[in-house]
Amino acid sequence: MPEKLQSPKGTHDVLPADAAPRLAVERVARKVLEGAGYRRVETPTFEATELFARGVGASTDIVQKEMFTFEDGGGRSITLRPEGTAPVARAYLQHGMHKLPQPVKLWYLSSFFRNERAQAGRFRQFWQIGAEAIGSAEPVVDAESIVLLHTVLTELGVQDLHLRLGSLGTPQTRADYREKLVAHLRANEDRLSEEVRGRIDLNPLRAFDADHPGTREVMRTAPLLMDELAAEDAEHFAEVRAHLDAAGVPYDLDPTLVRGLDYYARTVFEFTSGALGAQSAVGGGGRYDGLIEQLGGPATPGTGWAAGIERILLSAGHRPEPEPVLDLYVAIDGEERDLRVTGFRLAQRARAAGLNAQLELAGRSMKGQLKQAARSGARYVAVVRSEEIGLKDMESGEQHPVTGGVDAVVHDVLRGGTL
Ligand code: HAM
Repeated sequence: MPEKLQSPKGTHDVLPADAAPRLAVERVARKVLEGAGYRRVETPTFEATELFARGVGASTDIVQKEMFTFEDGGGRSITLRPEGTAPVARAYLQHGMHKLPQPVKLWYLSSFFRNERAQAGRFRQFWQIGAEAIGSAEPVVDAESIVLLHTVLTELGVQDLHLRLGSLGTPQTRADYREKLVAHLRANEDRLSEEVRGRIDLNPLRAFDADHPGTREVMRTAPLLMDELAAEDAEHFAEVRAHLDAAGVPYDLDPTLVRGLDYYARTVFEFTSGALGAQSAVGGGGRYDGLIEQLGGPATPGTGWAAGIERILLSAGHRPEPEPVLDLYVAIDGEERDLRVTGFRLAQRARAAGLNAQLELAGRSMKGQLKQAARSGARYVAVVRSEEIGLKDMESGEQHPVTGGVDAVVHDVLRGGTL
């Protein structure tokens, strides 16, 4: 016998039992985001590799080690999207969305791919809901976007939720700060972990993320970017905070907040949940004013976030969605083709009339069909016989013959008050 195949490591199936809570995530995200004027967007599952190299940043872990990249038949390098911001920015640019009223507010629910080491809450294919507001530099857009994510996560029941907030300033501030930080790291090089030492020039900010005790010691006295912000960036950040305060969304200022993507400028944030283990980030984002320019467009500000659906579900406890009510189960009493065709027609008519209907699909005995109808929670069972159709009310157990064909059955079920 051939070997039984399994889904690849770090991937998971979404089975019907998992689908219901996911629908709740989609429903809440859609209600909150579309209510605030965000409109749904979907971009392709794969993009030109260059989009992520330029957009996400060549020195990031994502681009350096986590992308699923391959060549298509024409020798072009293609990558399964590891995130959604660069693709949405590309779509904004490609479709001339700067001509629309700004900011253009877009949301998505898509799967993403990162070749990471799989563990609890970390997958190689995972799903995100994301929201991007492109075309306005106003601090209120950052604040609103953060509040919307806070609302989504709270409504979904994510437990022990914390918001960490920081500001990275502009690229110039970061460049100046970076020099200061590199000088600090160089001056303490012998106490750093090998990995951090090897990346001092490539990505010195990542040193704040390190677990290595010597490195952590060195970082305690490191200069902080938040203390070096230019006046207008500090003002922008103060405005974001004032709006969050007004909205009553609590946050911790985190001057060492590092995000794994290079496109951020000014506001950055992350929501964590104490209900998650090591992978505690449930969602995060920030402002990316330089991204569209990086992709070959005009200078265009933008801000947004993404939240992992698996992590939302892991941190939200279990809240079952109500199953849809089954109005009618169509059972067939007999072997003749005519009966089966009549039953088939009845199910179609019932659905066209707005009823939820299921049809016997496995050739069960009459007893088996009634059992299946009860298991499915059907309110009515129609038993199609050669001489008539019998209609049984599953709640009262009453049964009566219906003359007048399938339409009369649909009529009786509708009249039964199921709609
Ligand atoms: P990110 O922080 O890389 O940001 O990912 C956002 C969220 O996706 C994380 O907080 C986490 O919940 C989930 N996530 C990330 N990687 C995995 C994984 N391997 N397995 C399961 N869940 C994962 C972004 O992707 C940015 N595009 C967010 C953004 C939008 N910034 C501005 N606009």
